[in-house]
Amino acid sequence: MSKDCIQRIMSRSSIRRYTEGSIPESDIEEILKAGFSAPSAGNMQPWRVVVVRNESTRSLLAEAAGNQSFVARAPVVLVVCAVPRESAQRYGQRGVSLYVLQDTAALVENLLLAAHFSGYGACWVGAFNEDLAREAVGVPDDMRPVAIIPVGRGAETISRTRPRRPLSEVVVSESF
Ligand SMILES: Cc1cc2nc3c(=O)[nH]c(=O)nc-3n(C[C@H](O)[C@H](O)[C@H](O)COP(=O)(O)O)c2cc1C
Repeated sequence: MSKDCIQRIMSRSSIRRYTEGSIPESDIEEILKAGFSAPSAGNMQPWRVVVVRNESTRSLLAEAAGNQSFVARAPVVLVVCAVPRESAQRYGQRGVSLYVLQDTAALVENLLLAAHFSGYGACWVGAFNEDLAREAVGVPDDMRPVAIIPVGRGAETISRTRPRRPLSEVVVSESF
């Protein structure tokens, strides 16, 4: 990977303020395609993404997320759902308790990076009531909403990305 790609990955930040104005369908489609290129265990792709533009649904999602009002202010909100049943078909309990969550987390990160590279701001929102989120978007009980991602043109500039722990703290040497 070129240094430029690494720099671009490292320049992503959570964006929670958005300008007015919609996002072209073609941009959303491109972001979704990049999202779905994420790896998944056995390539099962046990996921669905609900694309929400409707204002009242966005408000319900903000409420489901404990009134994180910026969710409602994004023109598009992606609700990433895990489908544990599909992962269980091949992997049983390990599929349900681990792989489906890892698969959808990879999808979420791809979506965030694709949004960033396409000139949009986005934020991974994980603090929400799953039942309320499921009701808001009308997905069945066997789908588990795992992340809410508001996407919009950023109305804030993050001059420096948020700090990370030093490598020395989080990289464990083999001889541990
Ligand atoms: C699993 C998960 C859940 C998160 N939930 C929320 C959330 O509910 N609300 C929010 O504003 N940010 C949420 N975030 C975003 C983090 O706060 C953010 O990624 C972190 O502070 C680092 O900042 P950065 O993304 O700008 O690098 C979540 C991130 C992850 C990975």
